[in-house]
This record gives sequence, structure tokens and C-alpha cells, in this order.
Amino acid sequence: CIARRLGLAGVSVLAITGFAAGAQAQQTITVGHSISDDSHYSVGVDAFAEKLDELSDGAFTVDEKPAGALGGERDMIEGLQIGTLDAVITSTGPLGNFVPETYVLDLPFLFEDYAHARCVLDGEIGQDLLDKVGENDLVGLAWTENGFRHMTNNVREIHTPEDAAGLKVRTMENEMHMAAFEEMDVQPTPMAFPELFTALQQGTVDGQENPISVILTSNMWEVQDHLSLTGHVYSPAIMLASPVLWDGLSEEERGWFVEAAQAGAEATRDMVSRLETEGVEELKEKGMTVVEDIDTSVFQEAVEPSYSTYTDEHGSEMLERIRNSD
Ligand code: PAF
Repeated sequence: CIARRLGLAGVSVLAITGFAAGAQAQQTITVGHSISDDSHYSVGVDAFAEKLDELSDGAFTVDEKPAGALGGERDMIEGLQIGTLDAVITSTGPLGNFVPETYVLDLPFLFEDYAHARCVLDGEIGQDLLDKVGENDLVGLAWTENGFRHMTNNVREIHTPEDAAGLKVRTMENEMHMAAFEEMDVQPTPMAFPELFTALQQGTVDGQENPISVILTSNMWEVQDHLSLTGHVYSPAIMLASPVLWDGLSEEERGWFVEAAQAGAEATRDMVSRLETEGVEELKEKGMTVVEDIDTSVFQEAVEPSYSTYTDEHGSEMLERIRNSD
């Protein structure tokens, strides 16, 4: 897979109209996300802010709103569309509800590893999907990363899909994820992330699934005993901007935002990669039992029928493009 950062000509502005008015001196950009201020998203916001400051010579400053201060990911995407906030870093979890073409990215066991996922998202396929985002009253600045998702729960160690059967597991509000868990006879319980910690604490759900970086920095280890390194789905993230903000920027300023978002993505990916190994060790030290010797092929076989949830509606062209891009 040969990745290339596509030029600014490819920036998704298809749905954006309006006259570029130019920025005012010292404009503050509000950037929201759902996780903690020491997470991989937060590191990405810092790198974004630094690059934007450098490129704009201090004309833009960033006000980070972490930890769901502005609501869950779905609420924040809606906020962008009506211009109540400027930018968001979100997983693709709720994005398919706005841009159905992105559902393909949420299919289980689609990406072989981090290199494959990053290469696809940084290349033509990623750009085509950013263009689709731009057709839906949103501006896709850059793909960034959440990471491969792993299962945690409070009931038992999960080695096989049979061990997961019967558990009530919080999922993102995403049809593809829910369909996959149903194939394993897990009871998927969609819920916005800001509600999750309390739901786990109170036993409303038995478990959840998220990348190591989230499990660690959102203190899931305080309320979950078992972690299984299922890596069942790669979870991309995206930095989105509001069309209201975008309409007020000049072409040059738009270029700065894209470059800054790409710098943010790089910093985020570095942290995700580091925690993929270091974070597991830290979680063991914090008392979680970790099942590492997972035979992913049996999980893959179990969830395979869920692919029809995607192909029945969207066909298999994009799926094949991704599969053939390694
Ligand atoms: O589980 C989720 O909803 C997402 O993975 C999270 C933690 C909000 C990060 O995008």
C-alpha cells in the first residue's frame, strides 16, 4: 500500500460554499473530543495547536474542550454542522450516521495491522472518503487514529467468542459494530462514551471495547477486571471542522488547518503505537488480567456474517479496494 499525503487540492470542500472572508487577528478555535486531557486525542490537539500557531504566526489559538465537555461524539458532530463549535476529533463510531460511506471503515477484521490502516487512510481511499465527508455539511481535515479495539469485562476472561456470548457490552452507536457483536451472541448496548464509566461502575453493562490508549487514559481499569486483546476492529478517528468556520477562512488559512491537522494525526498515531505495548504492561500493573494469546481467526469467522449489514446496502466495491490495498 503506497500512501501519500494528498495535496490541498483534495481537501473536501464540496458542500462548502461562501466567500472566503479571511481570519480576524487572534481567532480562537474551539476543539472538542470525548476523552481525557492526557489521551492520544489531546496530544493531537496540542500538536495541531502548535502547528497552527506556527503557520499563522499566532493568528489562531486553540481552546481544547476534552472529556466530553461539549457532549458525546454524535452531539459534537451535530454541533459542527450548525456551527456551535469549530472542530472535533472523533472516532468513526457515530460518523456513519452522517456519512454512510464511512461505515466500511468500521467492519471487523478489515485492516490487517496499523501499517495497512494508516496507508489506506493516507492514500486515495482516505481522500475519497474525506471528500464524501465534505458533501455532508462537514469538513474532513485529516484522518487520525483511535486504534485497534479490545474487549474488557467484569465477568470472565474472554479467550473465544463463546466466552463473550451472553455478556452485555457497551458498543459505539454504530450499526457495523452492533451487527458484529450480535453474531457472537453478545448483547450490544449502544451508548455515548461520556455515560460509559458510570454504566460500568453501576453494572448496567458487563463490559466495553476500546483501544488500549482509551482503556488506560479513561481509567477503565478501575471498573473492569479482564482485558482480552481481540483487536476485533480498527477504529479510525477524524479531525472535522465546521463549515461555518471554513466559510470564513481564506484558501491559505484552509491550507494551514489541513497541515496542522496532519501534524496532530502524526502525534496521535505515535502515542497509540507506543501504548499498544507499554499500555498493556501498565494495565497489568494496575491489576487487570490480560488475555494475550487470542486466536483471532475464530473471532473473524464468528463475525463474518455481519459483513452483509454493509454489503447489502453499500455493495462491496470499497471493501474490495481496501482489501486489495495491502
Ligand atoms: O468508545 C468510543 O466511543 C470511542 O472509542 C471514544 C473513546 C469516544 C474515542 O473516540
